[in-house]
Amino acid sequence: MEFFLDSANLQEVKDAWDMGVIAGITTNPSLVAKEGEDFHSLLGKLTHIVQGPISAEVIALDHEGMLKEARALAGFHENIVVKIPMTEAGLKTVKVLAAEGIRTNVTLIFSAVQALLAARAGAAYVSPFLGRLDDIGENGLNLVADIAEIFQVHGLGTKIIAASIRNPVHVTEAAKLGAHFATVPFAVLRQLFRHPLTEAGIQKFLADWKKLEQR
Ligand code: E4P
Repeated sequence: MEFFLDSANLQEVKDAWDMGVIAGITTNPSLVAKEGEDFHSLLGKLTHIVQGPISAEVIALDHEGMLKEARALAGFHENIVVKIPMTEAGLKTVKVLAAEGIRTNVTLIFSAVQALLAARAGAAYVSPFLGRLDDIGENGLNLVADIAEIFQVHGLGTKIIAASIRNPVHVTEAAKLGAHFATVPFAVLRQLFRHPLTEAGIQKFLADWKKLEQR
């Protein structure tokens, strides 16, 4: 499993990219709106930092509108993956874009059959939202397991991005279940680095080293 950073914040993206652990980033309208900057200007800056897939979402809900926005986004930079919501118009758009060689990430996936439909329409990626399912008392990880099984049984090449990740357990379990990517918020990414025994080990090594210096 590889990592994407789920952020449009330039500092977070730069820090995560410099850590060497992310393959790309995912954004959504809420994350972009938080930055308070013109979308295309922000996207331009993000493409200078990230040398990998950058998911950018369309706003239109109708097929023609999505198609227009998607083509413009894809033409903006070769690394842009167009994020399309899981709707009938969305999948119709995915089909056309796939035929044009434009990669799509079908977002807001909450059931395994939605993922199967998106894959059949030609999506390069599907994004099941784990945390939002957990929020309503369901088990988001079960969804990842179901999608991974269906894609394997039917030999589908669409990649699974475990999204709406809330904690390190989501990440570990998504990796075990066969998600190809996990897109993680910056705060969760930093949590992944830490373990109390690593911290304690560093302190012990330093304390022992100081004893040597004092001899
Ligand atoms: C995925 O691509 C989305 O941007 C994201 O994971 C949504 O997560 P949230 O439920 O924390 O908003």
